[in-house]
Amino acid sequence: MYRINIIGSGLAGLSAAITLAENSVACNLISLQNSERAQSVLAEGGINGALNTMGEDDNTENHFNDTMKGGVYLSDPNAVDGLTKNAPQIIRWLESLGVPFNTSGGEIILRNFGGQKKKRTAYARSSTGKIIMSAVIDEARKYEACGLIKRYCHHEFVKLLIENNVCVGALIRDRYSGKFAEFKGTVILACGGMNGIFPGMTTGTTQNSGDAACTVFAQGVEFGNLEMLQYHPTTIGISGKRCLVTEAARGEGGRLYIERNGDKWYFMEEKYPELKNLMPRDVVAREMFFVRRQPECGNTVYLDMTGLSESTWKNKLSDLREEIIHYLSTDPKTDPIPIKEGIHYFMGGINTNECHQTNVQNLYAAGECTCQYHGANRLGGNSMLGALYGGRKAALTILNISKKDDKFIDKSPDFKVLHEPFAEEASPIVIQKISEALLLGLGIVRNQKNLDYSLKKLCDVEKNNNLNLREKNRIFLAKAMIISALGRKESRGAHYREDYPNRDESFQKTSAVRFNNGEIDLKYRDIPERRISANENQA
Ligand code: FUM
Repeated sequence: MYRINIIGSGLAGLSAAITLAENSVACNLISLQNSERAQSVLAEGGINGALNTMGEDDNTENHFNDTMKGGVYLSDPNAVDGLTKNAPQIIRWLESLGVPFNTSGGEIILRNFGGQKKKRTAYARSSTGKIIMSAVIDEARKYEACGLIKRYCHHEFVKLLIENNVCVGALIRDRYSGKFAEFKGTVILACGGMNGIFPGMTTGTTQNSGDAACTVFAQGVEFGNLEMLQYHPTTIGISGKRCLVTEAARGEGGRLYIERNGDKWYFMEEKYPELKNLMPRDVVAREMFFVRRQPECGNTVYLDMTGLSESTWKNKLSDLREEIIHYLSTDPKTDPIPIKEGIHYFMGGINTNECHQTNVQNLYAAGECTCQYHGANRLGGNSMLGALYGGRKAALTILNISKKDDKFIDKSPDFKVLHEPFAEEASPIVIQKISEALLLGLGIVRNQKNLDYSLKKLCDVEKNNNLNLREKNRIFLAKAMIISALGRKESRGAHYREDYPNRDESFQKTSAVRFNNGEIDLKYRDIPERRISANENQA
């Protein structure tokens, strides 16, 4: 066998690489940027796991149930079963790598996060992603030193090499020399969320262009639930993107209000007395959208953290406070801050089974580029978990099915000059036009008319511009998003249709799209039954 090729060196890619290396299997870790600049470092509030350290009688079954309910039953229950059962052990592994989680009396403490009735989110102030990544990057270095992990940083994924529906490798370009090489063998895509499809509108890194997703879609890889975009309720606008104001702010007591007839109206507390400001993100974002439209209300929703204690600011949210002072010149300790919804996460992505296999043999996917864990709405704190568990699970699947007596071929790829049509970048003007067309339809509240208009605008962009290959691929994936949203004639999780405001159980299915001979095919796939499982799913 060849080295396994992992595309993307964020948390999912690193987790896959480390798992392979722990089992003496070699890999190439290929990424445009180094791991320190991956999306995962931007994760703030924490990572979920039923550690039950807060005396609340929590367990992994509660975590399973909250995740399924939060995703409004579109997640693969067997995948979620593995995710939630393995979560405590993954957090303990991170602790063993030296991640300085917040603790009390030597034990990890947990905070409240949205859509969960128990405290279940382990955290390191509100820079959890940065701190976890630094430990995991360090762990990977051990295996880089002995050659099991070989890094190709500043290398770009160009396309998959597919023969008879079997992935035989990937074409990669060295961004410095401009030369290309075929990386032979199995591929794991861990290329993150599609932030670059919505420039300026997402909390995610603008380095994630979405090109990899668009390319593999055009190559026939099936995607699922593409209509499910998560709007995070609390973001602020900064140059070129939305900046996340972590849900931990509300987990630690922050409150949302809007001015109504001159008074502060804490609308979430009034409408949802149980979980209040910590309802799942889709619900909070929608409520914010609706209260702003009420004639007696102002145009701005505020996050009020003025009631938080000195010790909460000092020990749990000092970095958030610094960030807000830096960007807004407002001290959240003394003044409420104006916030707005921003695109934060793509629940939709490459459709894989619970073992992370795609519809193309020898092609695996893990992390935010996939769709199996979070259904119609992801719970805060489940993303780093999904990346760590997913990367590991993909690697374990490869280890389980690889033939033990395979001869190992470690041939360095041969870089050469090629005239490769996939290499030409999408122009920022076309990217912007596509994004504007998409946003007409894919807002927090959707309807047939806007979605039709969105599709028409995408067709106009396609017709009226002399598009290069990457731009065409972007249009295909964009159309697939709209077609998925048009097809789901119900409201579920992040997909709210004012023309179909109710949930319809006949749509409790994965919307699965494929690009086929120039057409986009939309099908609905049944959600698998949960198998009764105790520990057999443990990675
Ligand atoms: O609000 C947050 O800190 C985000 C966490 C997440 O998306 O998991």
